[in-house]
Amino acid sequence: MNHKPLGQTGIAIPEIGLGTWGYHGGAEPLRAGLDAGALLIDTAESYGSELVVGEAIEGRRDRVFVATKVSRNHLRRTEVLAAADESLRRLRTDWIDLYQVHEPNAAAPLEETLGAMEDLVDAGKVRFIGVPNFSVPELERARNSMRKYPIVSNQVRYNLADRSIEGGLLAYCQAHEITVIAYSPLGRELQRLHDCDPRNVLAEVAGEVGKSVSQIVLNWCVSHEGVVAIPKGNSIEHVLENCGASGWRLPAEQFRKLDEGILFHRRTEFNSALRRLLPAGATPFLKQCVRRLPPSLRRRLD
Ligand SMILES: NC(=O)c1ccc[n+]([C@@H]2O[C@H](COP(=O)([O-])OP(=O)(O)OC[C@H]3O[C@@H](n4cnc5c(N)ncnc54)[C@H](OP(=O)(O)O)[C@@H]3O)[C@@H](O)[C@H]2O)c1
Repeated sequence: MNHKPLGQTGIAIPEIGLGTWGYHGGAEPLRAGLDAGALLIDTAESYGSELVVGEAIEGRRDRVFVATKVSRNHLRRTEVLAAADESLRRLRTDWIDLYQVHEPNAAAPLEETLGAMEDLVDAGKVRFIGVPNFSVPELERARNSMRKYPIVSNQVRYNLADRSIEGGLLAYCQAHEITVIAYSPLGRELQRLHDCDPRNVLAEVAGEVGKSVSQIVLNWCVSHEGVVAIPKGNSIEHVLENCGASGWRLPAEQFRKLDEGILFHRRTEFNSALRRLLPAGATPFLKQCVRRLPPSLRRRLD
C-alpha cells in the first residue's frame, strides 16, 4: 500500500482507505481492509457507521487513522463539542484522527465551527482538522480563520467521470499542501463509469495492465499528486480488490487512454452553489428523477 503525506503534518496516510457511507457489511470487510493496509477509515456522525467502525478498529486503534465528520446541522460551538463526544463514544476511542466539517452551512459562522474544532485539538480529542466539499473561496476563508492549526485535507468527489476539481480546486490544494480525499472514486457505482465509456476503454486498459476495472479506476484517481481515495465496499471481496489498486502505477499510455476515452464533466462553482441551496428533502427526489434518464443525459446532470 502506497502512502501520501497528510497536508503538512509530517505524517502519511494510505492512498486507499475505506469509505463507509451506506455501509452494511459488518466489521469483517473493514477488518480485511485494515489487514491489507487500508489503515484509513472514513465515517461521519450522519452515516450511522461509527459503531461498526468502532468494532472494526478494536484491538488495533493505534494503527488506524480514523476520519469522521460533524454534520451541517451541528456547527455551532456547543453542538460541535457535543457531536465530537458522541462520535468518540460510538467509535469507542479517545481521539479522532481527522475531524471534518461535513458541509458548510451559512447558518453557522465558519470561524465559530473551526474555533470549536481547534479547542478539540487542544483537548486531545482530535488530531487534525479537515473539511469536505469546500470550494477555493471557502478554503481560503477557512484557512484564514484558523488560529493555531492548519486545514490538512479537503474531501471532495473525484473520479474518472466527475473531474470538477480539476477546474482549479485540485491545483489549489496541491499548491497549499492540502490533501485531497477523493470520495465516490468508483463513481458511487461502477456502472456510472461504464455509462461514460462508449468505447470500452476501461475493459481495454484493464486487460492491458492485468488489473480489474475497479483497480484501474482507483489507480487513475490516486495517480494524481496529493490525492488519496476512500472507496466503499460492502464485501471482503470488493474491499480487497480495491486495496489492490495501490502499490503500482498506470503506464503513461494507459493513463492517456483513460483521460481521452472516458467522457467526463466538470461542475461549475455556480452548479455546486445551486445544489447547496436545494432543500435537503428535494435531493433524493431529484436523484430518483435523474436515475430514470438515459445515460448520456444522466451523466451531465448527476
Ligand atoms: N464528504 C462527502 O460529502 C461524501 C459524499 C459521498 C461519499 N463520501 C465518502 O466516500 C466514500 C465512497 O464513496 P461512495 O460510497 O459514494 O461511492 P464509491 O466508493 O465510489 O462506490 C461504492 C459502490 O461501488 C461498489 N464497489 C466497491 N468496490 C467494488 C469493486 N471492487 N467492484 C465493483 N463494485 C465495487 C460498491 O458496491 P458494494 O457496496 O456492493 O460493495 C458500491 O456500490 C463513502 O462511503 C463515504 O465514506 C463522502
